[in-house]
Amino acid sequence: MNVMSAANVIGTSPASKADIARGFGRARTSYESASRLQRLMGDILLETLKQQSHPNGVSGRVLDLGCGTGWYSRRLAEPGAEVTVTGLDLSPDMIRHARGNSSSDIAWLVADAEAIPLPNQSCELIFSNLMIQWCADPGQVLRECRRLLRPGGRLVISTLLDGTLRELDEAWQRADPGRRHINRFAPEAAFRSMVLGELPSAEIDTRTLRLPYTSPLALAAELKQLGAGYKGAGRRRTATAPGRVRAMCQHYPREPDGRVMASYEAAWVHWTCPGTGGKSQVDERGVENCRYG
Ligand SMILES: C[S@@+](CC[C@H](N)C(=O)[O-])C[C@H]1O[C@@H](n2cnc3c(N)ncnc32)[C@H](O)[C@@H]1O
Repeated sequence: MNVMSAANVIGTSPASKADIARGFGRARTSYESASRLQRLMGDILLETLKQQSHPNGVSGRVLDLGCGTGWYSRRLAEPGAEVTVTGLDLSPDMIRHARGNSSSDIAWLVADAEAIPLPNQSCELIFSNLMIQWCADPGQVLRECRRLLRPGGRLVISTLLDGTLRELDEAWQRADPGRRHINRFAPEAAFRSMVLGELPSAEIDTRTLRLPYTSPLALAAELKQLGAGYKGAGRRRTATAPGRVRAMCQHYPREPDGRVMASYEAAWVHWTCPGTGGKSQVDERGVENCRYG
């Protein structure tokens, strides 16, 4: 599959950017108490950074792309790290909340990851935890990251792939046929093809994570607290009828101890911008990028 068609396949978010920003903005105060998966996946990104560089993990200018409440912006700016951190998010409410809960040395930016208002080669590290799956054109996000990174700079991204929340998706399909309740995620092959088309030397790790919940309703409540519910155009605008919710719960598979499990197909991307000599090339839009090795 070529890069263009892969981008079309993996641009899985049918939701408008306004709906995405509004949904996450509304969840700003409940997000951190519900972000179990987000912490798990982001901590793995941080751990890799620590293993691969100097003891504090990173140095120089750091961009937290899709920073949400700023949890990782604050981790990246912890004392001892020689960094200037910028947290960027689509949601003005998330950014306001993040700024109010952080020290004044972090810079905050309301912007779209597909069109980042920062200069070429201005970042040493771009960190992006569970944001790119919300973008209509994830390939454009990678091109923006490539444009922003200095030679030798690093990009670390986590995302979710097709198969995520499959138990909930199947239960809803049986309880409410023909109606989507779960976000679509990119198939792994299309995602790999897109990433390697944009960043040929990238490393991609994937793993299935399974988290326990007391009930399907607890899982649904967590998604709501995160602001990560389905936001596609075909969603129900009114509350789903109690009978359908009950049917979904009946169709959700139970563990012997009565709990339910939710599967998440997790992916982590690592890329170092080649060309430590500082050479650059001009892409088709006339934008200078660091040179591929
Ligand atoms: C699941 S949250 C992750 C937040 C944070 N990275 C964390 O680990 O807690 C996804 C965030 O991405 C933001 N987002 C979604 N689409 C975006 C876009 N196109 N540009 C920038 N941010 C975006 C949302 O507003 C939301 O705050």
